Amino acid sequence: MEKLALFGGTPVRTTPFSPWPYFDDKERAYLNAALESRNWGGYPFPSPLAAEFGKKFADFHGAKFGIPCANGSVTMEIALQAIGIEAGDEVIVPAYTFMATASCAVRCNAVPVFVDVEARNYCMDPAAVEAAITPKTRAIIPVHLGASIADMDRLLEIAKRHNLVLIEDCAHAHGGEWRGKGVGSMGDFGSFSLQSSKLMTSGEGGVLTTSDDINRQKAMSLINCGRKEEGYDSFEGQLFGANYRMSELQVAVALAQVERLEEATSKRAKMHDLFRDMLHGQVQGVHVLDTDPRVTRKAAYQTVIKYDSAAFHGVHRDRFLSALEAEGVELSGHFYTPLYSIDIFNARTAQWPMLRERYGDGILDNPAVSCPVSEAAAWDEAMWMHYPHLSGTVKDLEDIVAAFVKVQQNVDQLR
Ligand SMILES: Cc1ncc(COP(=O)(O)O)c(C=O)c1O
Repeated sequence: MEKLALFGGTPVRTTPFSPWPYFDDKERAYLNAALESRNWGGYPFPSPLAAEFGKKFADFHGAKFGIPCANGSVTMEIALQAIGIEAGDEVIVPAYTFMATASCAVRCNAVPVFVDVEARNYCMDPAAVEAAITPKTRAIIPVHLGASIADMDRLLEIAKRHNLVLIEDCAHAHGGEWRGKGVGSMGDFGSFSLQSSKLMTSGEGGVLTTSDDINRQKAMSLINCGRKEEGYDSFEGQLFGANYRMSELQVAVALAQVERLEEATSKRAKMHDLFRDMLHGQVQGVHVLDTDPRVTRKAAYQTVIKYDSAAFHGVHRDRFLSALEAEGVELSGHFYTPLYSIDIFNARTAQWPMLRERYGDGILDNPAVSCPVSEAAAWDEAMWMHYPHLSGTVKDLEDIVAAFVKVQQNVDQLR
């Protein structure tokens, strides 16, 4: 029996994992060019680097247009506004995701309708979507979560059959491909975040992809204070936009990052597979979420691992994770909580009358909202490992697996 580091034993690992975000002379060169240009902002829109970046990003993902934007939250609000979402319209979102996937609907006075995720990959469950559709449903927002891609075959078919807009939340999935098609190119819109934790980043930032020219024009207008500039002639009237442009300094960094995306995606995918095989070979009761065989390029943002406490003498995931952290390997358990259990989605407020209309006095009290797979993931099962762990060496992976093995072999100390 070896003493766990949690109780004063020697940790498996004391050296840090790969630093991130990664950058090199590419970022320096583009940043320098942006500085020298003295055109630091994003106006006139799109500014030169923004136009170049938007095209490169869209080409990489197989979409016609890529529109740089302030972040990966407002991208989804803009997509909803561009389709003319109206107060009281319903937007179906997975319960197990980041708040922005649902708050975009609330911020447009629409109503987020939470549905469960599939147990195999924690992505939006198409059967649950189908069951949640009402005459008020306008849009669905699947999230390509962790290292997975939502079942786009079924979701696209459902959207088409019910005449719904589909917005792919690709905040985790830069570079991912489903049956050879890039994420963000299959739905009406793709929404990407370039915030600092993401697979490619400019500190803050986002991209909206679309292959529809009218969608592009409306989104451009909404991002650019509602300006209706030359070429913006295919829709009537002026839109209530705001300034959601990225600055050229941000875009400079994003441009360098997108040029590295193919190589980085391929390395992370290989490391993700290797880690999964090593972990499954050596540790019982933990399972890296399945990669659907229809995923033709995996974007490994987070390695999501399912934990079965029965294989750990009933020790709860969170206790296991604190022992793992003491061994020098930090994973997150409460990465996401089911959104309907977060207070801000409780409708006991006069701020969002449409939510009150849908949910009465509070989502928390609404017995109809129950997503058991999301709950199990959030409270008991899911363990999230961030991608920098996959961006280093095989020795990093060996250390992580060794920490799992050590804690499992000595799990009685945690009881
Ligand atoms: C699934 C998901 N959607 C949307 C966002 C929002 O992106 P941003 O932080 O760029 O606004 C995030 C960011 O963490 C996310 O994880």
